[in-house]
Amino acid sequence: MLILGIETSCDETAAALVNDGEEVLANVVSSQIELHGGYGGVVPELAAREHVRNLDPVVEQALAESDHQAKDIDAVAVTAGPGLAPALLVGICYAKGFALAGNLPLVGVDHFTAHIYSCLMDNPEIRRRKKAYPMLALVVSGGHTTLVLIKNDGEMRIVGETIDDAAGEAFDKGGKILGLAYPGGPLIERLAKKGDREKFRFPRGLTGAGGKKLDPENRYNFSFSGVKTALLYKVDPEKKMTEQERADLAASYQEAIIEVLIKKTAAAAAEFEAPTVLLSGGVASNRILRQRMKSEIEGAGRSLLIPPPPCRTDNAAMVAALAWHELKLGRKSDLNLNVYNRIGSSLVPAAFVPR
Ligand code: KG4
Ligand code: ZN
Repeated sequence: MLILGIETSCDETAAALVNDGEEVLANVVSSQIELHGGYGGVVPELAAREHVRNLDPVVEQALAESDHQAKDIDAVAVTAGPGLAPALLVGICYAKGFALAGNLPLVGVDHFTAHIYSCLMDNPEIRRRKKAYPMLALVVSGGHTTLVLIKNDGEMRIVGETIDDAAGEAFDKGGKILGLAYPGGPLIERLAKKGDREKFRFPRGLTGAGGKKLDPENRYNFSFSGVKTALLYKVDPEKKMTEQERADLAASYQEAIIEVLIKKTAAAAAEFEAPTVLLSGGVASNRILRQRMKSEIEGAGRSLLIPPPPCRTDNAAMVAALAWHELKLGRKSDLNLNVYNRIGSSLVPAAFVPR
């Protein structure tokens, strides 16, 4: 079954063609980073207008790359939420039109669950292994920092999430403070390579460090607003920093974020006895995070699954692939499909059906 996936939840216009939920035939992403760079963040209305311009060419390109034609498509999948409403709406309207014109089933897909699913796409055998469950997933992107326990196919529960900024947002805001372009994540990572991660000690939010007792209900929750404010106080806008100072700040800042992500994920994996840990979302592009998470998780005898590079940041392959499972379960959307923005409503149950 050939599914066309469409993703426009933020600043990436993406289309993909995926066969049977696994075989990625085309995965095209058109980024708007340059457009939003000057504003220091994504402007929803501009993102939506850009999606209107780019979506059709991106779909055409996906078709060309996959050597297929529109008539070969069996279903249309689209991200319905969570994300920026005006941006999501463009994808949803396009998908409805495409489905209506071709008399095809339409599937509204959850972006957050799709990020989790991106870890499993390349690993079909994991779903057949009984002892893969429970799985613990960390979704760490510009919009989310959330730990989800997947007890079984479709049985998902949030065990922790950020109470303020997402980790990606902390990277982006930190980048802005350090005078870097948007998005700050990859640029902080690059700058940090030349820096000393122990030069500055930034706060580790909700860890019980720094003398603040940790409330048990926050054990797996995250907070990144403190580290961001601490960086802001360290940087004196009146004084010109040396390149080395900037690199040391970037390295120490990155360290504070990464350390908390790893510690909390490892502790939750141990408490819930999860043999499998999934790491997804744009921040999973960070090599230090991936390497250190791998040694921590695998060192404890668990397996860690991370999507391949094109599926870490926003993409439509994960959307088309997840939709295959939805359709197998008989779930379709209709032309009333609308944008939603609550993560609670987004935990699609029974998403990972075994074959
Ligand atoms: O998943 P994604 O593409 O979009 C959302 O759904 O948010 O994630 C984008 C986020 C941005 O905040 C970006 O700064 C961050 O991922 N990011 C990184 C790196 N690459 C992207 N953060 C840290 N290190 C990186 N190398
Ligand atoms: Zn995303």
